[in-house]
Amino acid sequence: MTAPLQASPQAQPRVLSGIQPTGEFHIGNWLGAVRTWAQQVAAQAEDLFFCIVDAHAITTEYIPAELHRRIWTMAGDLVACGVDPDRCTLFVQSDVRQHTELAWYLANVTPLGDLSRMTQFKEKSEGREHALVGLFTYPVLMSADILLYRATVVPVGEDQLQHLELARETVRRFNHRFGPIFPEPQPRLSQAPRIMGLDGQTKMSKSKGNTLGLFEERDVFWNKLRGAFTDPQRLRRSDPGRPGVCNIFTMHKAVSTPDEVELTYTECTTAQRGCVDCKKIVMESFDRELVPLRARRAEIAQHPDRLRQALGDGAEKARRIAEETMREVRPAMGLGTGAPAP
Ligand code: ADP
Ligand code: TRP
Repeated sequence: MTAPLQASPQAQPRVLSGIQPTGEFHIGNWLGAVRTWAQQVAAQAEDLFFCIVDAHAITTEYIPAELHRRIWTMAGDLVACGVDPDRCTLFVQSDVRQHTELAWYLANVTPLGDLSRMTQFKEKSEGREHALVGLFTYPVLMSADILLYRATVVPVGEDQLQHLELARETVRRFNHRFGPIFPEPQPRLSQAPRIMGLDGQTKMSKSKGNTLGLFEERDVFWNKLRGAFTDPQRLRRSDPGRPGVCNIFTMHKAVSTPDEVELTYTECTTAQRGCVDCKKIVMESFDRELVPLRARRAEIAQHPDRLRQALGDGAEKARRIAEETMREVRPAMGLGTGAPAP
């Protein structure tokens, strides 16, 4: 008798997440996702895969040379944040061809209707006369990223929960038709899963130009923070504020000490502290966190060869695991000549 296929053969829980090499790496990316990645890297309790998803970045207009440059910038940014390639698998998505292969196969267990419900597609295609097929099928590629490594934990910001739900559904559909090959991945949210943009209207996003860049000059960072929207009902200094609706308070909760957060809450709700003072204090907290990261970033920029080596090693390891999975997927779906002839 053959042993039943294990949905999750690895000993340690496997974690996978991805980030697009588009636009500037911002505090939403960091607080919502990448800081959690770095904590997991420090803890070393799980088998960690982090991926720069360049194939996702071609789903809207882009300039090839710029994309190429941004892949390297993103890699350096991630390492500076603590995503140490010696202690996790850090790689570039398109260096592992199996991502696009599996995406095609998964497209054939994914109903059109599911994709048309994705809010990120609706938002990103809105106002575009020529939205691309790739933008529509983007969540299928994201499912492939996760399933290829049979990851069970996916640390992301809140905006990705809908995509992750689709990935879970895809696992159920696939396993039902072709056998238990994939485990269901679970999202892991940070304490700050949704940072709003400086306009206070929409989520902070690389594509919206409403960001605070993690590695931008301190003066530029501060000028943007100083102008950020707070509680729209707080018109005068003497009006009490509502921390529950204020993006600056969300930032305090993410970077200030618990005592400072408590004091901020009290002083805001009793109008003892003005918004500019509140921003000065959160800026100090950011400085405490970001000054060391910026120093590390500058150091990494001195050694592009090390980064190249690290991404090469990361891709090699990722390819090995990805191919193991595909060697089960292809015959399970009746594809190719890998399995014995009938
Ligand atoms: P962007 O939306 O800026 O293009 P990505 O799509 O590359 O960023 O997202 C990378 C990670 O950062 C994802 O896990 C995403 O959920 C998270 N993230 C992006 N924006 C925010 C935000 N404003 N608040 C919290 N997390 C975010
Ligand atoms: N779609 C994600 C975003 O826009 C990025 C992403 C691609 C991702 N593949 C992934 C996140 C796999 C987690 C797991 O933020």
